[in-house]
Amino acid sequence: MKLKHIVLTVLAPTLLASAGVASAQFQKPEDAIKYRQSAFTVMANSFGKINAVVKGEASFNKDDVAKNAAVVAMISTLPWQAFGPGTEGGNALPAVWSENAKFKAASEKLQLAAVNLNTAAQSGDLEAIKKAFGATGATCKGCHDDFKKK
Ligand code: HEC
Repeated sequence: MKLKHIVLTVLAPTLLASAGVASAQFQKPEDAIKYRQSAFTVMANSFGKINAVVKGEASFNKDDVAKNAAVVAMISTLPWQAFGPGTEGGNALPAVWSENAKFKAASEKLQLAAVNLNTAAQSGDLEAIKKAFGATGATCKGCHDDFKKK
């Protein structure tokens, strides 16, 4: 089963709504860069809120964590369409394009980890959330190390 199908099965209603967005075309490279940076910003915002709970800096509210994890899972599917040919730039390293298969694999790792995080979050099991959060964070770092300017 392809990743897209797994993600769609798990997140069907919200994700189907965004599937139209997922075929977005960009007039200019700057538009693509802005789009992907915006998606990362929105995803990181929700991810950061879960981080605070995981670290014990914010109290655990099951519904809030569930909402934020759903946002992370959904938004994690979006940035990749904005890394097409001719959209080099921003803080993306040239390796995104020269080692595109590796970049794609790294993006799929995140999307799968985000689905697991969302599953854990919907269950409300804080220990499972912590574990899945750590695994997801490792996929962010792994990709940034190789593909994003410091
Ligand atoms: C497959 C690679 C990859 C993964 C996985 C990934 N990122 Fe990124 N991220 C990038 C790249 C490349 C950029 C630079 C984009 C640009 O400037 O054009 C970036 C940029 C960002 C930015 C800066 C956005 C801006 O406004 O410039 C944030 C914040 C961010 N990522 C957060 C995250 C978080 C949080 C995760 C994990 C939940 C994550 N990223 C996972 C590749 C990745």
